[in-house]
Amino acid sequence: MGKKISKDIAKNIENYLQEHEHKSYLRFITCGSVDDGKSTLIGRLLYDTKLILEDQLASLKNDSKKVGTQGDDIDFALLVDGLAAEREQGITIDVAYRYFSTDKRKFIVADTPGHEQYTRNMATGASSADVAVILIDARKGILTQTKRHSYIVSLLGIRHVVIVINKMDLVDYSEEIYQKIEDQYRSFSSRLNFSNISFVPLSALKGDNIINISPQMPWYHGLAFLNILETIDLAKTVHQKPFRMPVQWVNRPNLDFRGFSGTIASGTIKPGDQIIALPSAKTSTIKSIVTADGDLEIAYADQAITLTLKDEIDISRGDVISEVKIRPEITDHFQAHIIWMDDQPMLPGRSYLIKTNNKTVSGEVTELKYKVNINSLEHDAGKILELNEVGVCNFKVDDAIVFEAYQENRILGSFILIDKISNMTVGAGMINFGLRRATNVHWQAVDVNKSARSAQKHQKPLVLWFTGLSASGKSAIANMVEKKLLALGKHTYLLDGDNVRHGLNKDLGFVDADRVENIRRVGEVAKLMVDAGLIVLTAFISPFRAERNMVRNMLGEDEFMEIFVDTHLDICEQRDPKGLYKKARSGEIKNFTGLDSPYEEPECADIHLYSANMEIEEAADIVVEKITKFLI
Ligand code: ADX
Repeated sequence: MGKKISKDIAKNIENYLQEHEHKSYLRFITCGSVDDGKSTLIGRLLYDTKLILEDQLASLKNDSKKVGTQGDDIDFALLVDGLAAEREQGITIDVAYRYFSTDKRKFIVADTPGHEQYTRNMATGASSADVAVILIDARKGILTQTKRHSYIVSLLGIRHVVIVINKMDLVDYSEEIYQKIEDQYRSFSSRLNFSNISFVPLSALKGDNIINISPQMPWYHGLAFLNILETIDLAKTVHQKPFRMPVQWVNRPNLDFRGFSGTIASGTIKPGDQIIALPSAKTSTIKSIVTADGDLEIAYADQAITLTLKDEIDISRGDVISEVKIRPEITDHFQAHIIWMDDQPMLPGRSYLIKTNNKTVSGEVTELKYKVNINSLEHDAGKILELNEVGVCNFKVDDAIVFEAYQENRILGSFILIDKISNMTVGAGMINFGLRRATNVHWQAVDVNKSARSAQKHQKPLVLWFTGLSASGKSAIANMVEKKLLALGKHTYLLDGDNVRHGLNKDLGFVDADRVENIRRVGEVAKLMVDAGLIVLTAFISPFRAERNMVRNMLGEDEFMEIFVDTHLDICEQRDPKGLYKKARSGEIKNFTGLDSPYEEPECADIHLYSANMEIEEAADIVVEKITKFLI
């Protein structure tokens, strides 16, 4: 008898768990301005769906009386904000994920701060959400913030939005006010990419239209907020899309087993399915789908699995396994939307790490086509992207990537940008399409090569890269070094900042973006000259470490020498041979290096010249002596 009861209980628990397993998941993000009532809305949902633990509730009641703003009522914002404060102590990303469920669905909420500067956190929360809940304060209507959030949510590929018009209690539950906001939002959002927009008037504070329809708004004939979330139809799910799995690692515990492990980005897979591995384009058939819990007959998007194949084909970490008929593309040039997230602006021409879901490559923005004005949705011209700005850029990467347009596949279409020096994530990218024109330019092989050209000149080609402030002595020392090398019978060329800016780079000024482009071009020219077998001397301020490193990386190991002409700003300013410091001090010239534009000193220059204390000749001798051993 006792046994039977416990068996029944076990059965019930099993049923319950199974029911839960099969309930669909809905991930949503909440966005709103400060004080729109986001925390109250989520607190209310958690409370009304009975997910607040009893002891938490008791302390909440106490806190509400002590510090809350709602008299004897419970201040739900305290619940959520309280958790947020705890969270902030240990975790840096300001996105809180909360879980709750009803009989119909399981929910994951990404809660993000509403302040203007937090686009970044919003992007983090939105990148995996199915639905965005956008709050509008009924008293204030549609704000800049509302438009901004709507645009980003649309850019991040969210197709379903629920517009919550909150604080209806403070506008006497006015139908007119509600209707005006709905009409305005519909007209604004017609230019965004939403497939489904629901509107609901409610009061998070009073609980109207949250779980149940409120008698306060008899004119509203729609569903309560929770019902909307429960019934949103996520029709085309990632399961129905073509199969793609980026390979995270090749699992080879012994010679008899070779499996490819990863998480399925989209689609489903079964033993017997034909697949293609990219970029190699080798095909095979699935032999088995292995998991820790045994082999599977079928696997779906989001599942972590190991695939074994019928044929021995070469697949490496970072490759993508795809269905054969509809394949992702492969490119090294593409166009993408970028959300910039760093205080330091995005500079075209600067080399960043581009981390896609499965691969990290080096790359640069070749062109900022336009910036998107998030409020008006208009396109603005611009040279750089600042914190929280969105732009459309053309990219070039050093090694081709396997990708799909973000709108098709959020995983294969997204990437982050990482600063090479600080190692910080500085931007998020969504690929629009590959640029074919550029991909069709091939490298032309030539018979006379660098070593033939340099052997003929009896020298080893090399770049001597002089860097330092204006009037530090770069040009003078480089000039002297070139004379000495010429006397030694060497073949040289001196690229000097002022001279190059009269020709090749006469279109460039002195804002950061132009300086980056200046150095990128000079680096490319220096590289060609090295290929021609020459010893190249360059004299440019080249104020940024990132670009000096970029040029170093463009060349072979012993082909680049960084020479820091280290002269104190005061001395440069006293010398002021062209009167430029004077002009800069009087405000006649802007962005002058050392004054209102930065100079990043080399951290480990190959040669460090304290030129203030030595003659030009002496400095040149040091350089020549240091390099003779490299010259053959
Ligand atoms: S860099 O920063 O882009 O490397 P580059 O070496 O080409 O600069 O050019 C620097 C020269 O341009 C200086 O020596 C100076 O003669 C002149 N110049 C004019 N305006 C500026 C400015 N705002 N900042 C620095 N140099 C300037």
